[in-house]
Amino acid sequence: MSDGKRFYITTAIDYANGAPHMGHAIEKIGADAMARYHRLRGEDVHFLMGMDEHGLKVLQSAHAAGVSPQAWVDDIAQQFTHVWDRLGISHDDFVRTTQARHRPAVEAMIRRIADAEDLYVGRYEGWYCVGCEAFKRDDELVRVDGVDAPRCPVHPKREVSWTEEENWFFRLSAYQDRLLELLNERPGFIQPEARLNEIRNVIEGGLEDISVSRSRLPWGIPWPGDEQHTVYVWLDALTNYLSAIGFPDERYRDHWPADVHVVGKDITRFHCIYWPAFLMSADIELPQSVWAHGFVTIGGGKMSKSEGVHVELNEAIDRHGPDALRYFLLREIPWNSDGEFSYDRFDERYASELADNFGNLASRSISMIERYRAGLVPAGEPTRLDEEIVGALLRYRAAMDGQMLHQGLAVALMLSSSANQYVDARAPWTQAKDPALAAELDTTLAALARCVAALGTLLQPFMPGKMAEVADRLGLERIAPLDEVATLDMTGRRVHRGEILFPKVR
Ligand code: MSP
Repeated sequence: MSDGKRFYITTAIDYANGAPHMGHAIEKIGADAMARYHRLRGEDVHFLMGMDEHGLKVLQSAHAAGVSPQAWVDDIAQQFTHVWDRLGISHDDFVRTTQARHRPAVEAMIRRIADAEDLYVGRYEGWYCVGCEAFKRDDELVRVDGVDAPRCPVHPKREVSWTEEENWFFRLSAYQDRLLELLNERPGFIQPEARLNEIRNVIEGGLEDISVSRSRLPWGIPWPGDEQHTVYVWLDALTNYLSAIGFPDERYRDHWPADVHVVGKDITRFHCIYWPAFLMSADIELPQSVWAHGFVTIGGGKMSKSEGVHVELNEAIDRHGPDALRYFLLREIPWNSDGEFSYDRFDERYASELADNFGNLASRSISMIERYRAGLVPAGEPTRLDEEIVGALLRYRAAMDGQMLHQGLAVALMLSSSANQYVDARAPWTQAKDPALAAELDTTLAALARCVAALGTLLQPFMPGKMAEVADRLGLERIAPLDEVATLDMTGRRVHRGEILFPKVR
């Protein structure tokens, strides 16, 4: 175990109402790249993911499939974990809200919130969107041509249901001032900034108390002390960040507070308003930050089966392998905003950036060391390429420390292009013909070995499988951690070329 700083990172837990899709995948891949980057910094990372398995939406899917809700969520959870495995996601724990360890944490949260006198019984009358699992005010709904009842703009194909029931309410309105204070004192709590401004507007617009139980919903955690009610699925789900690390047992403090909750921009209200308010009420420290990434679209629209064009995630992984998909999604779609997935762009970037640029650099550097120096990296003087490595490293760290994963990748790719230009400018094949240029050739080959190794580190959070292969081909036991990149010495390493890293023919 490392003695580095602790870093607790979580993703949203996905609803178990259907198969995993590209939208779920980009979030887990981005969070995985962040977790792996922090490991490369020498930190003691705890990376949590999981499934959100209660609530009406999941229950309805199970009913539609004609199986029991438990059998349904077990099957869906398996589909998700299978695909996370394929994609090389390195989570340390996987929590499911139907697990035995989860319920006591939810019950403890509710007890603490009750002790703070923030709960009361009231009557709810209004619309409920099962897609969002959220109550909606009239001004949050839209009219759709030809349909009488209003619709939720996020799920226009679903009906919203008129709901009248007795519920437990949480005094969210009492937290308006404290939430605004939080955003003023800790503007980094919500990132990127566009999302902070949205949430500030919502809070300034006024917060109403929220219903935190559903009446007689047969799939969920019974409300402690009032079996007529079931805990509202968002209060249940948000608590996963605590239940998974042992709450209410004091050992949860080994990881808490979380450094970052990685979530999509559609669920910031739950993470940046409800969650901190629940925690304040329960007298539990707040997480350090929430990172709200954007949306990936396909054919301009959402990708759920019911509401848009669908690309099968497993097929996209098969196309050029898991690392290529990880690379493409984080390169094409800015981590702080939205972007579009298409197979054309995927094929293009795969060929030009992975095969022709980095793949070619690694392969020709290693083959020349094999051909001209019998596979042993020679000693060589520092070069201008080494200066570029140091510059790239600084820019990469700045990008990655600010969660700008797409910029971190752009820096790595630029360094790879520079190294290819360096090869062309130095023309080692010409140096090899003249014995008087042997020292020059050593310098070229040594610099290239250092650069490929450095790129191995910079690209490792994005393509862990391929970079493990690169390390092996360079004769390294492992990819170098970040603080060793600027001073790498590859002298004497035995390299071997291996298979083509990014083959072009599918
Ligand atoms: N179960 C809730 C989260 C509870 S967290 C305590 C939920 N589930 S979800 O399955 O609908 O979405 C899971 C995550 O995937 C969310 O962060 C959501 O924003 C993200 N994405 C779903 N579709 C997406 C895209 N098309 N693009 C990027 N991310 C998207 O919300």
